[in-house]
Amino acid sequence: MKLYDEINFTRIGDERGVLTVAELKNGLPFEVKRIYFLSDLNEIPRGFHAHYTLKQLAVCIQGSCDILFDNGADKKVVTLDSRHVGLTINPMVWHEMRNFSEDCIFLVLASECYEEADYVRDYDLFLNCISSSSLSGH
Ligand code: TYD
Repeated sequence: MKLYDEINFTRIGDERGVLTVAELKNGLPFEVKRIYFLSDLNEIPRGFHAHYTLKQLAVCIQGSCDILFDNGADKKVVTLDSRHVGLTINPMVWHEMRNFSEDCIFLVLASECYEEADYVRDYDLFLNCISSSSLSGH
C-alpha cells in the first residue's frame, strides 16, 4: 500500500480572508461518513494502529504535528503544518502522530463510521497481515 497521498486543497482568497475547499473529484478521494478532530494535545503520541479498510484524510487545520507512515516495507515521517494540505491515511498503513504544537488541531475525514473491529492495534499482527496478504497476492 502506498504510504500516503498528498492533497493540495483549493484556496480562494480575497480581501475578506481565505476559503479552503475540497470536494469529491477535486481533492476529496472518497465520500466522507465521519469527521473527528484532535485538540488539547500534549507530548503523548497517538495513533499506533492501522485500519483494515478505512480511508482517511488528515489535515492540521491549526498548528503542526508529525505523522509516521509505515506500510510494513517503507516508513516515512512527514510534518503536517499547512491547513491547505491533506495527507491520506490509507488502509493497512500503520500511523503514529507526535510532536504536536500547543495549538494543534488535527482534523480527520473518514470514509466510514467508527468501527473498532476495523483497527489493527498490534504491530506484530499488522506485520503478519501485510506479509500474508502479499503472499496471497493481494
Ligand atoms: P483512538 O483511535 O485510540 O485515538 P488515536 O488514534 O488518536 O490515538 O481513539 C480514542 C478513543 O476514542 C477510543 O476509545 C475510540 C474512540 N473513538 C470513537 O468513539 N469514535 C471515533 O470516531 C474515534 C476516532 C475514536
